[in-house]
Amino acid sequence: MKVGRLNHIGIATPDIAETRDTYAALYGLDRLTAVKDFPELGVKVCFVDTGNTELELLQPLGPESPVNRFLEKNPKGGQHHLCFEVADIFAARDAMRARGATVLGTGEPYTGAHGVPVIFIHPKDTHGVLIELMQEPA
Ligand code: CO
Repeated sequence: MKVGRLNHIGIATPDIAETRDTYAALYGLDRLTAVKDFPELGVKVCFVDTGNTELELLQPLGPESPVNRFLEKNPKGGQHHLCFEVADIFAARDAMRARGATVLGTGEPYTGAHGVPVIFIHPKDTHGVLIELMQEPA
């Protein structure tokens, strides 16, 4: 198993509108989607198109949000994860386990903000970086 392209970089923020405006004002990154709520994922999301990849801006939605713990440690927000595409999410999950990595949660792929199945690999396995693997969009 080898990952494909870098699909996006996840960035956690306590204020998605302010963060979106900063990327537009400072870097001219003004091609973006509307902010959308994903209650089942516990986040509000806005995608910023950078040309060769996307930024995925994440703001917690509710007290159970997985992003809350990150913001407790990084109150102003920061880089949260990298997401690589994979050809087969189940084969990738099995390869990660065979290589000794920890797949977060139950390990069952679930539908992420892009509408395709994803898994997350514990940051301890990748020198402190949380990695998302995402089924290549068809
Ligand atoms: Co992501």
